[in-house]
Amino acid sequence: MSKEKVHHITLIPGDGIGPEVTSAARKVLAAAGVVIDWEIVDAGAGAVEKHGTTLPDETLESIRKNKVALKGPLTTPIGGGFQSVNVGLRKALDLYSNVRPVRSALGVSFHHTPIDLIIFRENTEDLYSGMEYEVAPGVAQSLKIITEKASTRIAQAAFKWAAQTERRMVHAVHKANIMKKSDGLFLESVRKVAASYPDITYKEIIVDNCAMQLVMHPEQFDVLVLGNLYGDIISDLAAGLVGGLGVVPGANLGDNVAVFESVHGSAPDIAGKGIANPIATILSANMMLRHIGENKAADRIQAALVLFLSEKKYLTPDLGGNASTDEMVQGIINKIKLLR
Ligand code: NAI
Repeated sequence: MSKEKVHHITLIPGDGIGPEVTSAARKVLAAAGVVIDWEIVDAGAGAVEKHGTTLPDETLESIRKNKVALKGPLTTPIGGGFQSVNVGLRKALDLYSNVRPVRSALGVSFHHTPIDLIIFRENTEDLYSGMEYEVAPGVAQSLKIITEKASTRIAQAAFKWAAQTERRMVHAVHKANIMKKSDGLFLESVRKVAASYPDITYKEIIVDNCAMQLVMHPEQFDVLVLGNLYGDIISDLAAGLVGGLGVVPGANLGDNVAVFESVHGSAPDIAGKGIANPIATILSANMMLRHIGENKAADRIQAALVLFLSEKKYLTPDLGGNASTDEMVQGIINKIKLLR
């Protein structure tokens, strides 16, 4: 794709460290020569004062129009307060696949074995349905909704990706020994999809064992397909194996729209301190570049990151250094220029 092409992309800067890491990613994309006309829109707590809602119609319309967005994390209050804007956004745009590549290739892994796995998390239902009730004083109920439709399409996304990228194995992660109906339906749906892919080994693993196996022998995993809650938890665990939340990217994919964002949240403990690691958001933006056909720029950014990290200089505190976000971004941009 020519460097002159202008891409129209929605940007949600987000809460907490969101504006810091999305601004870092924008600088890196610009340094790699990608021309983007960013449409900056609001969401989350910050949107309420201006729009009277956490998820303004303008935000959804912008993403529907541009079909691609880069998003910073959004804070969700714990216990009470408004419902998750992330969940609302994923449901409103039917972004049913949450795709999270977890790789030790950057050389900042905490694990001794090479890790290269990819998580396909169902993004629209399960215990994130938001249907919760106080049944009686002292008794609360959350509904876990599992449908054949949603389970089938996340399985199709995982197997299709596995086939296209020559992956050898898919694990379905579940707790159908206890949740026989809901997780049972999830498994049944994945099995039907697996049957159409005879060249890909299909395995099933109970989620608690999966957590332990990931910590001890992560190299045995290739593609994981999970429901919403297990996918959320296992993603953070897997991130912890390869350098932490600061380095793991993600994409929320629907049939027509794609929203790219890191696995991490708004990190209120470090927000505003200028020390957030921007790499997860840069890598999410890199997934976005591949999605829009800017593969050359994506390859260059990837190579620059590997080179930058190999020198172990200008690292943010989460990676054991004492550099600021800006210093890290400048270090990465210097490598991009070197690779010109
Ligand atoms: P978190 O991911 O924000 O932070 C967990 C830990 O990792 C913190 O110690 C934080 O400082 C560290 N961390 C995260 N990203 C980092 C980065 N880029 N560089 C350096 N350190 C980093 O998770 P937490 O604390 O559970 O959630 C905070 C808020 O974020 C909550 O309101 C939650 O709902 C929201 N959240 C939003 C997400 C999204 O918008 N996609 C995803 C996850 C959480």
